[in-house]
Amino acid sequence: MPMQRNTTEDDITAEALQRFAGTQDPRLRQIILGLIRHLHDFVKEVELTEAEWFQAIGILTEAGRMCSDKRQEFILFSDTLGVSMVVDLLSHRKPDGATESTVFGPFHRLGAPELPAGGNIAHLDKKGTPTLVSGRVLDLDGKPIAGALLDVWQAQSSGLYDSQDESLSELHMRGKFRTDAEGRYLVRTVRPVHYPIPSDGPIGRMLRATGRHPWRPAHIHFVVSAEGYEPVTTHIFDRTDEYLESDAVFAVKDSLICDFACHEKADGDAARLGIAPPYYTTQFDFRLKPAAEQGATVLDAQRRLAALGAAEG
Ligand code: BEZ
Ligand code: FE
Repeated sequence: MPMQRNTTEDDITAEALQRFAGTQDPRLRQIILGLIRHLHDFVKEVELTEAEWFQAIGILTEAGRMCSDKRQEFILFSDTLGVSMVVDLLSHRKPDGATESTVFGPFHRLGAPELPAGGNIAHLDKKGTPTLVSGRVLDLDGKPIAGALLDVWQAQSSGLYDSQDESLSELHMRGKFRTDAEGRYLVRTVRPVHYPIPSDGPIGRMLRATGRHPWRPAHIHFVVSAEGYEPVTTHIFDRTDEYLESDAVFAVKDSLICDFACHEKADGDAARLGIAPPYYTTQFDFRLKPAAEQGATVLDAQRRLAALGAAEG
């Protein structure tokens, strides 16, 4: 009599695990075996139907079709499911005095212009309230890091990123800034606003079907890097924002929340830069830890992602 095989769902799981068990690379073996175990367990636990399986394939296909140099639906999936922040917390576990990281998000673009201190990333935004963000980049002993690079990006006061704004063909609300000899930086922008993440695709449908809102609290994105230090991907958040407690992508950390002070009279940097009141200022010092090893950074990964089907810029 021929041997009976694969008669139960557990047989299939066991056989799939066994087929991958010979994977040479130990890390790849750990990941693939864990993935099979959890995926199979998940399907069995919820007793996924064929119709639901087809629906899932449809959703992933649609997400893939929506991806371009201007749109990253898979990052959005990961972010809204809380996976990105779990990865972030696993990767940057201990509070060692360095600036805490948070999600990269889908809206970073390569090719932002390098601007002088006080350069305006919001030169086309006429409706937002002018805002100066200043501070220093320091090491863990509080010593200034000269020549550190701050890659900054932000949504416009309309709540749209440049890549979502059909009236714009150029980069906007993006810039790269270098710290001076005292580790200081100064970014001119507009006050950040809360905005909804894109909800015209499968992620939007998921949020609506599960009764979740799509809003992110007002924030400004930074990747701060310097030779010999571990780069940090982070945001600063506005303390007064109503969505701090319910960020659609779970990305708020207390240490990243800042006060934005309103000024009715232009003095100091604002006067020098010709900013008419009212305007806001906020301060944030970034602290970098020494690089453990020269590994791949989140920006290296972004470059590879961009190369998949994207032009720079
Ligand atoms: C953002 O802040 O740009 C963002 C992050 C995660 C998902 C969507 C948007
Ligand atoms: Fe953002």
